[in-house]
Amino acid sequence: MKTIFRSGHLRKLSSLMRLIVTTFVGIVFGFFLGASFPTLSLTKMNLPAPLLPSIDLTYIEDKYSGLSTQALLNVWSTLKGRKVGPTQGQNDTEVWLPTNPRGAERLPPGIVVSETDFYQRRLWGLPEEDLTSKPKYLVTFTVGYDQRANVDACIKKFSENFTIILFHYDGRTDEWNEFEWSKRVIHVSARKQTKWWYAKRFLHPDVVAAYDYIFIWDEDLGVEHFDAEKYIELAKKHGLEISQPGLEPDKGLTWQMTKKRGDGEVHKVTEEKPGWCPNPVLPPCAAFIEIMAPVFSRNAWRCVWHMIQNDLVHGWGLDFALRKCVEPAHEKIGVIDSQWIVHQGIPTLGNQGEGKNGKSPWVGVKERCRREWTMFQDRVAVAEKDYYESLGYPINNTARYPTLM
Ligand SMILES: *[C@@H]1O[C@H](CO)[C@@H](O)[C@H](O)[C@H]1NC(C)=O
Ligand SMILES: *[C@@H]1O[C@H](CO)[C@@H](O)[C@H](O)[C@H]1NC(C)=O
Ligand SMILES: *[C@@H]1O[C@H](CO)[C@@H](O)[C@H](O)[C@H]1NC(C)=O
Repeated sequence: MKTIFRSGHLRKLSSLMRLIVTTFVGIVFGFFLGASFPTLSLTKMNLPAPLLPSIDLTYIEDKYSGLSTQALLNVWSTLKGRKVGPTQGQNDTEVWLPTNPRGAERLPPGIVVSETDFYQRRLWGLPEEDLTSKPKYLVTFTVGYDQRANVDACIKKFSENFTIILFHYDGRTDEWNEFEWSKRVIHVSARKQTKWWYAKRFLHPDVVAAYDYIFIWDEDLGVEHFDAEKYIELAKKHGLEISQPGLEPDKGLTWQMTKKRGDGEVHKVTEEKPGWCPNPVLPPCAAFIEIMAPVFSRNAWRCVWHMIQNDLVHGWGLDFALRKCVEPAHEKIGVIDSQWIVHQGIPTLGNQGEGKNGKSPWVGVKERCRREWTMFQDRVAVAEKDYYESLGYPINNTARYPTLM
């Protein structure tokens, strides 16, 4: 007990000594600094005297142990020099700005940075010289290592004008270093998660605010006939806020809308099986794309992100609701035919499921997909009903989209 007490006591003493010595050194240096740089002197700063020791030097020294005392003092005097506030005699006014982002109301707006990007920086040099380019487009692939050959082919289609993120659902990230491009790509790894799970967690609109267009793509797409830059040009030209490349027709397609056509650059409406489209400007005949290869404009993504549910990870049903995010949806959602892809339909994520009662893993995954589809539809219906009822409108909308399978 005694030794413990003593060593604790000693430690206290020695840190007290350290404080005294450092403060002394600080005062001496501060004096010289003050003498050589009169602009930093306290009288000119209008700082009330008690503010002087407001920064604990021992703390700073511990944090920046690699720096010399001189460097430290420079940092300190800079901080000190920058300190501003109500001067003596004036009222004590605290910052409170309701127009700041939620939670940041106490900050002066000039220091608030509410958006970010995925630009990778250096650990040295001048921050303003870090970035040699600022890609305006973002593409993400949700991948497993087994699909590396196809993912490699996809990534080679995206130039240096794209920031690339790989979401790894199989926990294998190091293996990708065999590809030259792997170094410039951002790798995010979380086992057995889906594209929409990652998108909700890592692609918050404020995080991807730097990008004009955001591609959120599967790993099993054939991109031989696809050029990303030309695609974006067409999306801009035709005012598409939400789009996808046309799908090669001779692969078992579910919807007419996303089928590639040979007669133009884009299409925004289609015809479906009789009875499927009571309203020709609503899904699945218009205002509709699928979820395997969507491309969002910044503004559209800001809305769609908010519609993604944290617990519904497969995104089924989301395609039918995308139209709620753009207006008029049948003009701003469409399929780009002249840059088209092949949906190879390799059920890779399905195999990350769990086999139960003699069923193979993908059966459980498929069941979950379908369940999520109805859960999502119900949530949208309830939310809309609640909203309109709260405004006092009577509503009668039991209409449902045709169900999948
Ligand atoms: C300081 O506060 C007083 C009373 O609260 C007020 O009348 C005065 O206008 C304030 N002065 C400044 C500079 O805000
Ligand atoms: C990248 O973007 C710039 C500026 O928009 C463009 O000039 C250039 O051609 C693009 N690169 C490729 C490979 O298309
Ligand atoms: C709701 O619509 C259905 C079919 O359009 C109709 O049969 C029913 O009477 C309507 N209900 C109300 C309360 O208006």
